[in-house]
Amino acid sequence: MTGLLNGKTAVITGGAQGIGLAIAQRFAAEGANIVLGDMNAEQVASAATSIGAEAVGVAADVTKADDVAALLRTAVETFGSLDVVVNNAGITRDATMRKMTEEQFDQVIDVHLKGTWLGMKLAAEIMREQGSGAIVNMSSISGKVGNFGQTNYAAAKAGIVAMSKAAAKEVAAKGVRINAIQPGLIRTAMTEAMPQAAWDSKMTEIPMGRAGEPDEIAKVALFLASDLSSYMTGTVLEVTGGRYM
Ligand code: NAI
Repeated sequence: MTGLLNGKTAVITGGAQGIGLAIAQRFAAEGANIVLGDMNAEQVASAATSIGAEAVGVAADVTKADDVAALLRTAVETFGSLDVVVNNAGITRDATMRKMTEEQFDQVIDVHLKGTWLGMKLAAEIMREQGSGAIVNMSSISGKVGNFGQTNYAAAKAGIVAMSKAAAKEVAAKGVRINAIQPGLIRTAMTEAMPQAAWDSKMTEIPMGRAGEPDEIAKVALFLASDLSSYMTGTVLEVTGGRYM
């Protein structure tokens, strides 16, 4: 097989569905061994089964350091290395600032900002010893423009960009690359929960005139995870159909 990730092992958080699962499928098609981590234990197990023999599903909450450490250990113990980590798990708790509760603010910061930080920190420990690795962090275009009703999410997603750059500088000399993706409107359970009027109004802002599909994020994640982007670190790629360019 001549896949772009042939023989590599990739951990993907939030991999039970949506963008994370699409990334796992795309990476598997390119020859990677897959370890999916997700809070949803049942769904992550069946997602791994659907990918095939070279995939394992692990119940893991990215806000818990022990869970993240166990998830990453699974990659090394099962497949012998940890080459790629995609910090993708995410939630939304949208509300205007007037209505948003402190709990909604904290939950979103915890999953995105702390979850990504733990994923990077613990993955980098393994990868720097190995002398190689690629980390891809899932930001959002909301972290660039600050979507209405997302003071929590926009802050977390902008924070992911900044921490990716800071961390990229720390590990570059050890052969570890860290990059981020800012997706626009992608068709998943997260966005299908949106009221039709909100969906329609977003559509008018997208020069390409359509939402993106999860695999269109997966293809960019593949680029950042593979040797195709060997001289890139600390970058942010917008995948938005031209929205907010
Ligand atoms: P989704 O809701 O379909 O999937 C998210 C997955 O993350 C779920 O399987 C969920 O169980 C898991 N998850 C949530 N909290 C977790 C935790 N604490 N620990 C482990 N797993 C957890 O969402 P989607 O759309 O696939 O989003 C994936 C990522 O892409 C998220 O970070 C999201 O913020 C980001 N994104 C999505 C966009 C979209 O339009 N769908 C746009 C921009 C960014």
